[in-house]
Amino acid sequence: MEFKFDLNSVLRPDSRGIAILAPNSQYRPSRELCFIIDELGKLSATAQGLRAIITTSTKFFGSNDNKLYFKTEGNRVLGMLKTGYRKLFYTNEIGKITELTPLCLLDFYVHESVQRSGYGKELYERMIYEENSQPNKIAIDRPSPKLLSFMRKHYGLSEFVPQNNNFTIYKRYFNGGFQES
Ligand code: ACO
Repeated sequence: MEFKFDLNSVLRPDSRGIAILAPNSQYRPSRELCFIIDELGKLSATAQGLRAIITTSTKFFGSNDNKLYFKTEGNRVLGMLKTGYRKLFYTNEIGKITELTPLCLLDFYVHESVQRSGYGKELYERMIYEENSQPNKIAIDRPSPKLLSFMRKHYGLSEFVPQNNNFTIYKRYFNGGFQES
């Protein structure tokens, strides 16, 4: 998505075009920054067929654990990813309930014009690097069919026990290890 104002001065991306907004970072809720977050949030919700928008500037600046990652190119934002910690109750195959507080992938969107070009993988792997984590350790809030395919293709992650809370935690969260494609 292309913006009319100078995106670089608002998002201040690094040399790879990635900007990371964390609660303790120096970003202030300027009109332009809120506009970027809100527009990408709307596009993501539409792409996922959601009625409620997951990512808004109000929610982001009102929370103290969410992180936002943007992939930019010139004056365009190509993708966005949001993470945060959530306390979850996980039920395994035999009904045993465990309380976990994993890092969660809460929202993930790559613009339609550049999907399937590797930008999603770039954003996801930057997040994994920044968090010093691994794909099998990340819970996912309501993964879409495209995201399930993404996780299977890039990380060989496919097996999980469906949960009432709609979060997906792969079985390898508990067994460890992952394969890269
Ligand atoms: N149909 C099926 N699988 C797809 C599609 C698609 N249209 N697009 C991407 N994928 C999966 C496939 O596994 C694909 O590999 P393939 O092309 O060999 O089949 C792989 O992703 C491609 O990897 P990337 O190019 O790195 O992925 P991309 O840049 O497209 O980003 C993402 C993946 C974020 C899922 C993107 O397609 C997207 O924004 N989709 C629409 C919104 C969405 O579904 N977001 C996730 C919601 S769940 C959540 O946010 C927690």
